[in-house]
Amino acid sequence: MTRPDTDSALSSESIEPLNIQTVGTSLPRVDGHAKVTGTATYAWEHDLRNPTYVYPLQSAIARGRVLRMDATQAESVDGVIAVLTPYNAARLADTGNAELAVLQSDEIAFRGQLIGAVVAETPETARHAASLVGVEYEQQPHDTELRADRPDLYRPDQVNPVFPTDSEEGDVEAALAAAAVTLDQTYSTPMEHNNPMEPHTCVSVWDNAGTGADGGPRLTQYDSTQGAHAVRKNIARLFELAPERVRVISPHVGGGFGSKGMPHAHNVLSALAARAVAGRPAKLALTRQQLFDLAGHRTPTVQRVRLGADADGRLTALCHEAVEHTSKVKEFAEQTAVASRLMYAAPNRRTTHRLALLDVPVNTWMRAPGECPGMFAAEVAMDELADACGLDPIELRAINEPESDPSTGKPWSHRRLVECLRTGARRFGWDRRAEAGTRREGDWLVGLGVASATYPSWAMPGSAAEIERTADGRYAVRIGAADLGTGTWTALSQIASDALECPFDAVHLEIGDTDLPPASVAGGSSGINSWGSTIVAAARAFRAEHGDNPAAGARTSSKTPENPDMKRYAVHSFGAQFAEVRVNADTGEVRVPRMLGVFAAGRIINPRTARSQFIGGMTMGISMALFEESVLDHGTGHVVNHDFAQYHVAANADVGDIEATWLDEPDPHANPMGAKGIGEIGIVGAPAAVVNAVHNATGIRVRDLPVTPDKLLRA
Ligand code: MOS
Repeated sequence: MTRPDTDSALSSESIEPLNIQTVGTSLPRVDGHAKVTGTATYAWEHDLRNPTYVYPLQSAIARGRVLRMDATQAESVDGVIAVLTPYNAARLADTGNAELAVLQSDEIAFRGQLIGAVVAETPETARHAASLVGVEYEQQPHDTELRADRPDLYRPDQVNPVFPTDSEEGDVEAALAAAAVTLDQTYSTPMEHNNPMEPHTCVSVWDNAGTGADGGPRLTQYDSTQGAHAVRKNIARLFELAPERVRVISPHVGGGFGSKGMPHAHNVLSALAARAVAGRPAKLALTRQQLFDLAGHRTPTVQRVRLGADADGRLTALCHEAVEHTSKVKEFAEQTAVASRLMYAAPNRRTTHRLALLDVPVNTWMRAPGECPGMFAAEVAMDELADACGLDPIELRAINEPESDPSTGKPWSHRRLVECLRTGARRFGWDRRAEAGTRREGDWLVGLGVASATYPSWAMPGSAAEIERTADGRYAVRIGAADLGTGTWTALSQIASDALECPFDAVHLEIGDTDLPPASVAGGSSGINSWGSTIVAAARAFRAEHGDNPAAGARTSSKTPENPDMKRYAVHSFGAQFAEVRVNADTGEVRVPRMLGVFAAGRIINPRTARSQFIGGMTMGISMALFEESVLDHGTGHVVNHDFAQYHVAANADVGDIEATWLDEPDPHANPMGAKGIGEIGIVGAPAAVVNAVHNATGIRVRDLPVTPDKLLRA
């Protein structure tokens, strides 16, 4: 194993650091005023003339075929313009991605799948008419149940996004057999649904449809997406258009959590519907209930974790085997056990992923796919091992700190996990933690829990940025990036300002439009890293070409630079999550009065927006720990609690004093800003911290999320 010498660990030979001025300061959100005054245009809100409205028709069975559809009654409703069905919808040029092959066949692969749509003059008319469409099905038996003992589990070729499916080092079984202390437990996490505030919305407009004018048809989509260019690429292929004939516009996005990372079926339906009303916009916003079928979800998992340690708590074996589901429509193999490859030093190690192929809607990214559910199991297991070894959970983690990345042998660019744990322990009052089940205040059992967090620093290739000196003496900075409410508008403006060495107000950022240079998807917490590096490269090229006092119209663009350090170093963020819980001794109700996250994520571009990202992730972690569970009724293949009345997402009353802090030091190997992604690490480890705190409060170990009162009362 190679280690960097001290100097190269503190700076990078390949990356010239940004000279920071506004980066690191809590500038208010650039888009804040527009948002709070309601003038920020979300996908539905663009001012378009003469719109039509689309209401989807969805399958009421989970598997089979549509035999007949009768639209006569619907078509006779005043204001109905068209009823789309698999029989009359336009043929798509590419049906390779079955999720997007909307209305291309009569086959049904999951309950809630799109089987048609009504296009009408008002949303109410469309919805009413949709209820009048008669559908006859040929129903076939469906299978939606994930179980770890299914004989038909299969091994995917790789797991999201590009990880090997399995890893094996040393001899795990022998090491477990020889270990002084062992743990063998199975953990489970339920199906969960991304629930961004803004439901998925896509408004499509065709120009020149059916004519040869102006080079043929042109499609515009006002979309709620994490990646305008990714939508363009996919939609252009389906409709056999050159990419530049599709424009996707998405200046503001009301959350996504991964579910808007790629176009889904509704994007295609919107475009098909717009074809039927040539020239008029077709507006489609999914209802909250429809999101549960059409916008992705987090796979349920069953995870067996086996740990072996010597008498001092040094890990000798670590085995993490994950079972998950995927939809028959499209494989998504989540990387559940991948973080276990690098968290702790253990000479013998195995991770595996197996999938059940089910008649369920398409699952996809949901905030920290893989790391989040995987670290729930692994970090509860570490808490259990600490108990078994008679060690403080923080000490157990410190003892097992790896000097370099165990999965690759590469040196860490920055790790500092133990520092996060110790800093958090001090601030949180960890020394007040009592023996499990011994601290009671009135009716409430009180406990503290801790867990580690990690997330890789992804750098996506393929973006470009353009910088132009404008007539008003400012700088237009153009990149097709996305702001999901995360702070991109502000953070990229700060980076551009420092890179151009100009006042913050002199930067005029433009994002969220495919007319701008291409940008990678806002996913994998990679946005600031990927787009920021690109903007810095463009700014430096601009200054090199045009100097400090450029003429109006001076313009330069640059692509994402290579970062050779990504090959030499293991570049990851780390963190420590602390939770205090109070469990009602009579009702089993769990409260989280305090939570603290301490993160090592490199330089923080904007503390205000970063804090919001961190505590948002932690809040979602509390939500995962205590509330979120999509109840899939295997009789119908339907998620029955498909609304906010029944699928509870943590809200203000569920969250007490929640704080995030960080070790503020740039990671010189990450990029010129020294920054690593922060969008996802906040949720990683948070559910485990809560569950470990519940154990400390009650002595009860819950291994199946969410921790509902019944699970505590039964124990
Ligand atoms: Mo994130 S789940 O990669 O948007």
